[in-house]
Amino acid sequence: MLVRRCAIVTIEPRERTVFDFALLAEGGSGLHTLIEWIAIAPHLGEEVVLDADQMQVLGTLSPSDWQAFETLAVRHPRETLAALGEKRLLIAQGTADDARDALLRDTYWRPAAAVLHASSRWQGVDSKQLAREFAANSDKPILDHLGPPPPPVREHVPTAQRRALPPVPSTPFDELLLRRVTCRNYDTTRALGLDEFAAVLYRTFAARAVVETAPGVHILKKGVPSAGGLHPTGAYLLVQRVEGLAPGLHHYHPIEHALEPLRELDEAQAATMARLFVAGQDYFAQAHVMVVAASRFRRTFWKYRAHAKAYRALMLDIGYLSHTIYLSATELGLAAFITAAINEVDIEQALGLDPLEEGPLAVCGFGIRAAQRREVELDPLGAVWQSPAI
Ligand SMILES: Cc1cc2nc3c(=O)[nH]c(=O)nc-3n(C[C@H](O)[C@H](O)[C@H](O)COP(=O)(O)O)c2cc1C
Repeated sequence: MLVRRCAIVTIEPRERTVFDFALLAEGGSGLHTLIEWIAIAPHLGEEVVLDADQMQVLGTLSPSDWQAFETLAVRHPRETLAALGEKRLLIAQGTADDARDALLRDTYWRPAAAVLHASSRWQGVDSKQLAREFAANSDKPILDHLGPPPPPVREHVPTAQRRALPPVPSTPFDELLLRRVTCRNYDTTRALGLDEFAAVLYRTFAARAVVETAPGVHILKKGVPSAGGLHPTGAYLLVQRVEGLAPGLHHYHPIEHALEPLRELDEAQAATMARLFVAGQDYFAQAHVMVVAASRFRRTFWKYRAHAKAYRALMLDIGYLSHTIYLSATELGLAAFITAAINEVDIEQALGLDPLEEGPLAVCGFGIRAAQRREVELDPLGAVWQSPAI
């Protein structure tokens, strides 16, 4: 059997507090801390605890050369190698794990970025539960708990040395920016017009032109910039209330400006899925349309191979996309949101995405703002609500 180490793994020495009845019986609190070696390997989708021997041997194994298991067993304890195999960090040639590992290699991830991405994905997280736990873990007001935040501005010179800039006359663009208020109150009684739905998607995601820069290399011209013109991030849509569309999942085709229907859902299924996608944030789950911004990693990493800035560029692309959703919706008298608090694993499963190839980095949504404000919105200037409030 030929084996080699998986392509990407990092080890984190992590402290954990555990409860021990024996210590309690001795009169203490029962709590003690231990430090474990945690292996984070993106091809696995879960963390693995190593003992010191396994960690040490792992650090000597080549991730590139296939070697006979028996040859390695001459130099290392057989049971340690076997444990690394069971933990799927030592990969046997021709196995399913080999295929997963090969996919990771072929995607040209920067190891630190792959680990960051893998370790920041959520499954089944409920943000309300997190908030309850945060409150339960401290009986103090939040400021006593966290201490004061850094000030809003880091000032570099005394006031007298500041050079005032000319005032900026207000233009319609300023009015648009002012009316962009993250919406947490959607009108669940009305459906969004199909034309408005199409306009937001078109302005944000549609390719206005396709340019072939080399045989088979197509870059896209859109209303938003993207590193290398590659536009790796697509829009998967969870439609709840749009005129003429049944609730369900779709993919937006950015060159054809068309929907690719993926799965129909009934209203209750769509609502449940929406809530799961945004980790229990009910106020966002009620948006007429949710846009899962999912990046095809290899599209960008094909050019920027194992590049130190490539994953950062993907995340920056999301900022342009989400802001264009906001502004397009606002211009039409609609409203929008973005959240990074999403259950990536559940979204991937619902959409059938392989997390090594394609993954959601944020969820946006848009729709018709409700007449009544039930949830908080940051509108201190009263740009969208008659009574200014946060
Ligand atoms: C990257 C990012 C993540 C966000 N995540 C959340 C979120 O999880 N929940 C939420 O209620 N708002 C979220 N927001 C919205 C912000 O809370 C909001 O932008 C902020 O309160 C300022 O309000 P405004 O957008 O109306 O100016 C997020 C915004 C950004 C840019």
